[in-house]
Amino acid sequence: MKKQIVTTSRSLTEETEDKLNEQIDMEGKSSAYYLSMASWCETMGYSNAAQFLYRHAEEERQHMLKIFGYVNDAGGHALQPEITGIRHKFDSLREVFELILEHEVEVTKSINTIVDHCFQIKDFTTFNFLQWFVTEQREEETLARRAVELFVIIGEEGVGLWTIDQEIGNLDSFATGTGPNTTGAI
Ligand SMILES: [Fe+2]
Ligand SMILES: [Fe+2]
Repeated sequence: MKKQIVTTSRSLTEETEDKLNEQIDMEGKSSAYYLSMASWCETMGYSNAAQFLYRHAEEERQHMLKIFGYVNDAGGHALQPEITGIRHKFDSLREVFELILEHEVEVTKSINTIVDHCFQIKDFTTFNFLQWFVTEQREEETLARRAVELFVIIGEEGVGLWTIDQEIGNLDSFATGTGPNTTGAI
């Protein structure tokens, strides 16, 4: 007798599974998008920005895998997304970070839509799982916004772009709460 692999009973609905697979798609595309940006930065000599983006491309892949694990553990089937149409060339370093901010805001909206859906249908297990992403998106938006602000604060003239690239290399500690004034101390 063949072993039954697919479980017939589960609390994850097909609609929620589809939404999670759409989020997998979005995280996978984010990873590819940032990898492409990292490569462009590297070819342009923005080595700190490149390293920052290589790390973030990897983080987005980890986000994707986190959802993979959840969907399959919950009795669903996580799907490897098709990744096509990734942009390879950018007009400026500033444009790269403006696009990242725009993209992260879209990701936040997408996460919030799924969280709202889970709340409506009382799928508190998935709702709970997604709280990690809610917090993560707050951090990612802060980081992207800070990067865009650097262009305004420092300016791109003279050694400005070089300085901005240096500062982007220090950004990770900014949003992960290891920067100053995050412990309540003044
Ligand atoms: Fe992500
Ligand atoms: Fe992100």
